[in-house]
Amino acid sequence: MNHRILFRAPGGPEVLEWVEAPLKAPGPGEARVRHTAIGVNYIDIYQRSGAYPVPLPAALGFEAAGVVEALGDGVAGLDVGQRVAYVDGPTGAYSEARNHPADRLVPLPASISDEAAAALIFKGLTAHMLVRRVWRPVPGAWVLVHAAAGGVGLILTRWLATEGVRVIGVVSTEEKAAAVRAEGAAAVLIVPRGGSYGNLASEVRRLAGGKGVRVAYDSVGKDSFEASLDSLAPFGLLASFGRASGALPLVDVADLGRRGALALQRPSVFPHVADPADLRAAARELFEAHAQGAVRAHIHDRLPLREAAQAHRLLESRSTQGALVLIP
Ligand SMILES: NC(=O)c1ccc[n+]([C@@H]2O[C@H](COP(=O)([O-])OP(=O)(O)OC[C@H]3O[C@@H](n4cnc5c(N)ncnc54)[C@H](OP(=O)(O)O)[C@@H]3O)[C@@H](O)[C@H]2O)c1
Repeated sequence: MNHRILFRAPGGPEVLEWVEAPLKAPGPGEARVRHTAIGVNYIDIYQRSGAYPVPLPAALGFEAAGVVEALGDGVAGLDVGQRVAYVDGPTGAYSEARNHPADRLVPLPASISDEAAAALIFKGLTAHMLVRRVWRPVPGAWVLVHAAAGGVGLILTRWLATEGVRVIGVVSTEEKAAAVRAEGAAAVLIVPRGGSYGNLASEVRRLAGGKGVRVAYDSVGKDSFEASLDSLAPFGLLASFGRASGALPLVDVADLGRRGALALQRPSVFPHVADPADLRAAARELFEAHAQGAVRAHIHDRLPLREAAQAHRLLESRSTQGALVLIP
């Protein structure tokens, strides 16, 4: 019998249930994927906790790798037995096997393992969006990366550094700072848990030659938002792409002008890869960057799929560096 994780009410990790999930034959345009590795992402926590409300009961998970087991009518370009990965909804990646729209599946090259693909496809395509669509890296430019030792953070830091950008990473511990330096960050600042972001902008400005940074990549949200705006050089861009610390404040657009003609964007990976051609092209570039070493899959730990709740506890406790992967 096939199994998956679901939750019937929002709450803490304990709401996650391991349930039987009978599988039908794949419908037209679908493929059945037997998962071999599943990525855990902060958006799973937003959904589980109710920060992003979803219709209930709800399946969880946007990211997995696996093997095509059966094809529905009208599916072309995929074979049974082929290794694939995917990055988007409908949710349900926290399962042993599932049916998924075939045009959302990305074939995996031999250069990447299933576990690495599950750790990379969501977080790496988010980094791809940030370095290819949101802002094109300029060698020598200074940028700020919050949560730089996280799943997205380590990938983003290395990709930017590889392209000559000077990254100032922000993390909560000295151990995480070492991991971020190892990915090529020019500098790392530590804001411990419960610590204040009050001095961050002045430190960032000092490091970035007095002017501030060209881009602030902020996935922390509530706690760091003001410090990110204050860290920007004139005409700088705040790419606010997550809210691990809580909901974002409302913004007075005129205030962005007063603070130095600043730009604010709320980028999301889903529109970035909504077009199947964009998805395939971005995935190709991501896997190429991985094969060449500009991108690395950092797996903090692997846990059994049934223990998804424990994976959520670990991610929320801020004790992970890189990605968590669930193994069915
Ligand atoms: N917009 C998009 O399309 C998109 C796509 C993927 C991910 N994201 C966002 O990117 C971020 C990173 O995702 P991820 O899955 O790779 O997670 P992650 O970065 O591995 O984990 C979140 C990190 O945020 C930092 N953090 C700072 N304040 C926090 C707080 N109050 N509570 C919890 N964490 C806090 C922690 O690092 P320190 O302990 O070092 O501070 C923590 O390790 C998330 O905000 C996620 O929503 C957005």
